[in-house]
Amino acid sequence: MTLAEFIAACDALRADAERDVAAAATLDEWTEVRNQLVGRKSGRLTQLMAHVPALLPEERRAAGQAVNALKTTVDALLEARQAALASVQSDGQPRDLTLPARHAWKGARHPVSIVLDDIVGIFRKLGFTVALGPEAEWDWYNFGSLNFPPNHPAMDMHDTLYLQGDLLLRTHTSPVQVRTLQQYEPPIRILAPGNVYRHDMFDATHAPAFAQLEGMVVDEGVSFADLKATLTHFAKELFGETSRTRFVPSFFPFTEPSAQVEVSVDFNDGRGPRWIEIMGSGLMHPAVLEAVGLDSERYTGWAFGMGPGRIAMARYGIPDIRLLYDSDVRFLEQFA
Ligand code: PHE
Repeated sequence: MTLAEFIAACDALRADAERDVAAAATLDEWTEVRNQLVGRKSGRLTQLMAHVPALLPEERRAAGQAVNALKTTVDALLEARQAALASVQSDGQPRDLTLPARHAWKGARHPVSIVLDDIVGIFRKLGFTVALGPEAEWDWYNFGSLNFPPNHPAMDMHDTLYLQGDLLLRTHTSPVQVRTLQQYEPPIRILAPGNVYRHDMFDATHAPAFAQLEGMVVDEGVSFADLKATLTHFAKELFGETSRTRFVPSFFPFTEPSAQVEVSVDFNDGRGPRWIEIMGSGLMHPAVLEAVGLDSERYTGWAFGMGPGRIAMARYGIPDIRLLYDSDVRFLEQFA
């Protein structure tokens, strides 16, 4: 083949390609045309390209340029036709645009994070600051400083994993009370969110690791009236103006008196309002203040601890606590 013949073959192929690609009426026909043109072995363009080395050395450059330009044109023709054919169905009708779209993943905050943020937002407006403490905690901070006598039955609820020496996985966020009092002078108003650990079965209502949120106020002249007023206000902010709050006597070694806080909430699920227990609370026991060297005649305080997971379950009607841990996107997406 001479160069002139080669160029002529390219031109002929370009004309045929334009006609044949345009004539392909279905994706099957399109595939056939594509194979004829650029099929890996016997495609016409493939064979033309394979012929370049057989030309005279001084003609190869021009021939190569011509055939490469042709390849670009043919590829573009094929691609455009394929896209056009893909947007109509085999009967020539446009695609059904009402078909469900492919699933788009939505990011969402975890329900426990949502509740935690809401709670922190409410207390922030009341002047509370967030404080954090370690999850691997010394026995003294978790129990001793909080007035648990050694082997006291109150510790039964706080069985945990013991690490080396006196270290354990903290069973509540209350140690942050003590750590904060060691570092800062009253007046103090803190919130301490964090994970805690207990030797509990993993069942519908218990988990061996869960989030807690501690609150503490220490100042001169702080009374149980402050505790009741603040926590009642908090409940109305979180659960709505119509919610009611009651304080049920309870026991914790580090508070005296102690109260379980219950809120009556109507979740508008047809079951009417019902009481849910949202936290433990109480006036700080003088022994805790004395443990960090504060004068318990001068300073008083109150504290609370709640489980945002429990509150999330109540608020969103989540029947099984394990759903909060499964990381099942079908569940989590509902909060997006
Ligand atoms: N730390 C207690 C608990 O787990 C809760 C609490 C905190 C009670 C502060 C009173 C005051 O379970």
